[in-house]
Amino acid sequence: MRLITALLLYAAAAWAGPLDVRVESGPRDVRVESGARSAADWWQTALVYQIYPRSFKDSDGDGIGDLNGITEKLPYLKDTGVDAIWMSPIFLSPMYDFGYDITDYRQIAPEYGTMDDFDNLLATAKEIGIRIILDFVPNHTGNESEWFIKSKNREPGYENYYVWADGIPSPDKAGVMLPPSNWISIFRKSAWEWCEERQQFYLHQFVVGQPDLNYRDPRVQQEMKDVLSYWLDKGVSGFRVDAINMMYEVDPKDFDGKYPDEPLSGDPNANPEDYEYLSHPYTRDLLETYDVVYDWRDLLNEHTQKDGEYKILMTEAYTDIELMIRYYGHGNRNGSIPFNFSFLGDINNHSNARDIKMIIDRFMTYIPIGKTANWVNGNHDQSRLASRHGTNRVDAMNMLALLLPGVTITYQGEEIGMTDGYVSWEDTKDPQACNTDDPINYYKKSRDPNRTPYHWDDSNQAGFSTANQTWLPVADNYKTVNLASQMKASKSHYKFYKDVVAVKKSDAVRFGDLDTRAFSENILVVTRLAHLNPGIVGIVNLSDEDQVVDLSSIKMLPGHLLYVAASGVDCSLDKWQIVLKNQVTVSGHCAIVLRTLLFNC
Ligand code: NOJ
Ligand code: MG
Repeated sequence: MRLITALLLYAAAAWAGPLDVRVESGPRDVRVESGARSAADWWQTALVYQIYPRSFKDSDGDGIGDLNGITEKLPYLKDTGVDAIWMSPIFLSPMYDFGYDITDYRQIAPEYGTMDDFDNLLATAKEIGIRIILDFVPNHTGNESEWFIKSKNREPGYENYYVWADGIPSPDKAGVMLPPSNWISIFRKSAWEWCEERQQFYLHQFVVGQPDLNYRDPRVQQEMKDVLSYWLDKGVSGFRVDAINMMYEVDPKDFDGKYPDEPLSGDPNANPEDYEYLSHPYTRDLLETYDVVYDWRDLLNEHTQKDGEYKILMTEAYTDIELMIRYYGHGNRNGSIPFNFSFLGDINNHSNARDIKMIIDRFMTYIPIGKTANWVNGNHDQSRLASRHGTNRVDAMNMLALLLPGVTITYQGEEIGMTDGYVSWEDTKDPQACNTDDPINYYKKSRDPNRTPYHWDDSNQAGFSTANQTWLPVADNYKTVNLASQMKASKSHYKFYKDVVAVKKSDAVRFGDLDTRAFSENILVVTRLAHLNPGIVGIVNLSDEDQVVDLSSIKMLPGHLLYVAASGVDCSLDKWQIVLKNQVTVSGHCAIVLRTLLFNC
């Protein structure tokens, strides 16, 4: 039997090699030469790893992660199979919102390092074949920005850089100005702040220190394009764009020169200072936004031509699916890859296999033909995968994000199943939580628990820092949940993740057709098949018990024999085992990847 297994594996490996064939499949409009892949398509099937620089690796012992720390860990990321890293903002900032309040888009925050450190990171990354994606924050700057200082002083050219409005004289108190409208900040309370110097209010959709830029001023549009060009000229491979659907507010010209009040949402759980208290027809999802994104795409295309490397653009908008897919492009204009947050918002630990299938199918139904799908399992704003879905679904969710078509986005730590850490009210740093002024319920709003430092090993501060105190405390469970121990273990979240990343690079996953099936409430099967390539089958068992899965109904699956390419922590099957197509035993809470031994033809 061993000999047969070895022969079959040998055959499979030989067949899996580069083929000089043309492959056409999946929702793409490009034909790809499978024998000679070009660098141009790297982004269509990339594994993008999100780094929250503050919490990844501290190289200088100040308790804060930094650029040299990231450079030090690049070999780890390469070994894992990461194609590109997206770093949350690394620019000069007072850190009210931990870098999303930028003072200068062309300077590095000193606590993260210097421009030399950045250049070194970029060069090292290029050398080993990892691309760098920066976080681009166009909706607002920090209030220490030179542009804001000039604007509040009405310096010529800068008068309209931000969203300014006169106040309404208070009917009760003489000399007191009330905000121009009832708009509320996402971080609670009025979105308008009085500016003494200018004797006007300015808009801030996030914290007070994050004034909103005014995209109705063409100078702002040019200014931000110049920022993009600055970093593209340095050689970065693209951008993740922050809070894109907040970019425009209605034009007061259309409302008798005033900003109109937003209507009440009717949310019974919201109090008048909460963002959710109102609905937001005048401050979110305005159609003007899309053209700006398409213009950025054109700019990135120019750099793509120049550098011979596709420059990726990914946009963040928590919005309805119709509005979201419009970022992909419209008419003859191309846009961005809008983050698909459906794994974050539309499924949870109670979702069954049918629910998950429907969420996958919904996105695949809406995505325009020829565009690149993407799957997001976590980010620095959301509770961690293991805390949202439960540790026993970590492998399943990671596997789905890696086997489905398109780009996979992994937030640091999700590959080892990190959980949310505990952060006391006293230690809380996130402005979204601090703004609740509520030492009891603050945690419901806090993003600190999912931003605690990365667990490298079981040493002091989880190997993140040599400091006695880190900017946020390290989560308690680092001695059991850490990379070093998962690398040593025969089965672990990390080992599984890495194995599935390797499978993601196969032609079936990169270019193959997708088939999703819920065999029952508990069994979800994802199949990827490309002509003349070994097929890939991912199976998830969401139940506590073993299930025997008969894959015969997937007619396109050739032959009867499959081998295990990746096996999650709860699976009894080991890698390289051979299984029969009509009788695959999947243990409770197991996620498993099988590979066909025969080509799909
Ligand atoms: C979205 C970012 O992901 C979040 O961290 C930040 O607070 C807001 N945008 C404001 O920039
Ligand atoms: Mg440091």
